Amino acid sequence: MPLCNRHLLGLEGMPKDDIQLILDTATTFREVLDRPIKKVPTLQGKTIVNLFFESSTRTRISFELAERRLSADVVNFSADASSVKKGETLKDTARNIEVMKIDMIVMRHTAPGAAVFLSNVTGAIIINAGDGSHEHPTQALLDMYTIREKHGRIEGLNICIVGDISHSRVALSNIFGLKTMGANVAICAPKTLIPCEVEQLGVKVFYNIDEAIRWADILNVLRIQLERQDRAFFPSLREYRQHFAVTRERLDKSKKTLTIMHPGPINRDVELSADVADSEHSVILQQVLNGVAVRMAVLYLLGTRS
Ligand code: NCD
Repeated sequence: MPLCNRHLLGLEGMPKDDIQLILDTATTFREVLDRPIKKVPTLQGKTIVNLFFESSTRTRISFELAERRLSADVVNFSADASSVKKGETLKDTARNIEVMKIDMIVMRHTAPGAAVFLSNVTGAIIINAGDGSHEHPTQALLDMYTIREKHGRIEGLNICIVGDISHSRVALSNIFGLKTMGANVAICAPKTLIPCEVEQLGVKVFYNIDEAIRWADILNVLRIQLERQDRAFFPSLREYRQHFAVTRERLDKSKKTLTIMHPGPINRDVELSADVADSEHSVILQQVLNGVAVRMAVLYLLGTRS
């Protein structure tokens, strides 16, 4: 069965079967990454453009690796060195790229909705690599893959997303995906970093990190997105750390062992203490590795869908 949609714009409304298919396909590609020769001919002859209008380390390298491991032809575009600086619109940029006969565009953009817009103005297959504070579907998929790998399931687990929920596309995509897969989802942050009416998404809300730790099996810790904050949402980073940082001391108070996740980049000793980030309970580097396999799965399923 192919995926329902020809683009990957977000996880809102994505059926459970589609998420399952991506995660199962990623398992096959994860195996390829352990082989001495990590390349398969699956997307030979396909051309993919990585359109990045916002800075990125992990996601960009991960997509490019995934594309090359599938033998696609890859073109990288960075907004800093492009005609966008000369005033060209997104639509014109995309149309000019498309006319050169490309098959897929992977885009990261600062504007929420940019990926949906692109899918309406070009004929290429679009993969959203993060659109402002809206969605980051491949991050949530790799998070779910990592949860399944570590716990053997997603359904029924208590997963709490901690940090800057209001400005985080990772939070929103995780909420949509995890709810669809049957997890119990909570968020934990200061009131000022929680969007209003968030309960409508079916999540539990904690304002106290110790209570969240008592409830959760897994913590997905997020960075404070200072670059998206137009005013102060809390007095200082020191105070944020004091009340919300995930530290060894706080985790030790809990009787069980929690799995610690983070999409990166980590601000060490702000939202997450360095010793916890590097501890045996952290799956942060597994997330990065699994990201390549998950992106290979998405590219394969969309790129070969008839
Ligand atoms: C996230 C992003 O860019 O949304 N990082 C990532 O893709 N690995 C989270 C962040 O920037 O904090």
